Amino acid sequence: MKAVIFGITGQDGSYLAELLLEKGYTVVGVTRRVSVDTTKRISHILPKIKIVEGDITDAFNVNKIIEDYKPDEIYNLAAQSHVGTSFSQPSLTTDITYCGVINILEAIRYSPRKEDIKFYQASSSEMFGKNYTEVIEPIFGKSHHKYQDEDTPFVPQSPYAVAKLAAHNMVRIYRDSYEIFACSGILFNHESERRGENFVTRKITKWVGEFVAWMMYYNVGPEDLVAVDEDEVYIPGRTHVDQGFQFPKLRLGNLDARRDWGHAKDYVHAMWLMVKQQSPDDYVVATGEAHSVREFLDEAFKAVGISDWKNYVVIDPEFYRAAEVDYLLGLPQKAKTLLGWTPKISFKQLAENMVNHDVKEAKLRRPRLQEV
Ligand code: NAP
Ligand code: GDD
Repeated sequence: MKAVIFGITGQDGSYLAELLLEKGYTVVGVTRRVSVDTTKRISHILPKIKIVEGDITDAFNVNKIIEDYKPDEIYNLAAQSHVGTSFSQPSLTTDITYCGVINILEAIRYSPRKEDIKFYQASSSEMFGKNYTEVIEPIFGKSHHKYQDEDTPFVPQSPYAVAKLAAHNMVRIYRDSYEIFACSGILFNHESERRGENFVTRKITKWVGEFVAWMMYYNVGPEDLVAVDEDEVYIPGRTHVDQGFQFPKLRLGNLDARRDWGHAKDYVHAMWLMVKQQSPDDYVVATGEAHSVREFLDEAFKAVGISDWKNYVVIDPEFYRAAEVDYLLGLPQKAKTLLGWTPKISFKQLAENMVNHDVKEAKLRRPRLQEV
């Protein structure tokens, strides 16, 4: 089997490529020409995959890649995927996240191999926006009163969500109109040690890692620090302005937003299962649990033995969204029943894995002072 992955350099692309290699696939990954190396997440598998230069916004290029490499499966994970950024760059977000998908669908539609190609599109829970389904009675053995599933109407709240929803609808239209095997995974938030550093979970765990490494460097603990300053924590006894003795606080936006957070490794498995079905369909992929950003902070700080993080976090309006999605909790019942998919990594484990990874990395960058 041969798969082409658009977006192979991203978080999900890297895990999906690993999974497909394990399953014996030939993997072709499409990467953009950029001035810096973006292959860090896939550096360990580079010798085993074929990298081809391409950009999803270039229709001719997309068509040529599909013609040249003759894939059995195409996974589109490429997107401008940051919701906050989509408010400042709505046009670019539309070009990549929506129009790019049309380029792939058109290439498949006119391909002489149309019947031989299976296509996966990365849709998003962000498409639900502020909407949810509400029930009075507990369902599926849990007291879920507010949730989203395949029947919940979409009410997008950001340029990113509008672009994803347009692409999602286009996938359905191409599936129904041209008999293309095209499926969409409506994936809820999934994170990992490879998560982009400006998404909230990784921003938190990266900060915790740097903070722990900084304390170790100066051989101090949380009890030795002063945090009265608005912007930074510092080591008393040293003058506040001395280089290195202060550490900038973690600046975040809305801590009350709730997300259904799973691990990316579990979620790429669901993508593959969708493509392996007899007929194409759309599936919600989620854990069925929602937690607030505040709760993620609790778990991340607990992982390094800090029970009270409030002195280290500053609320900064810069990180508020022009329109917020307050609550996402997915019911993955269809994926469980029809795909046999269940997530394996819990919320607590996810936070711990990410923190442990980021502490380790930060310590390598900043060894103890006496070890230098
Ligand atoms: P990510 O880390 O931001 O990766 C995005 C990928 O898209 C990167 O490889 C990026 O390449 C590539 N890309 C961006 N613009 C491109 C273009 N014009 N042409 C070709 N490639 C381009 O995202 P992710 O977290 O892995 O998510 C994968 C997909 O799932 C995205 O479509 C995202 O919107 C969607 N999704 C994610 C989540 C989640 O919680 N992670 C949930 C639902 C849906 P560079 O490395 O060159 O930037
Ligand atoms: N990024 C970020 N940075 N988010 C913050 C911050 C901050 O400093 N402070 C609070 N938040 C809140 C956001 O307002 C949002 O409510 C929540 O944390 C999660 O933000 P992100 O981690 O940026 O993820 P997202 O939910 O907006 O989008 C992610 O999930 C979608 C699926 O629901 C992305 O991966 C999308 O590509 C994906 O489609």
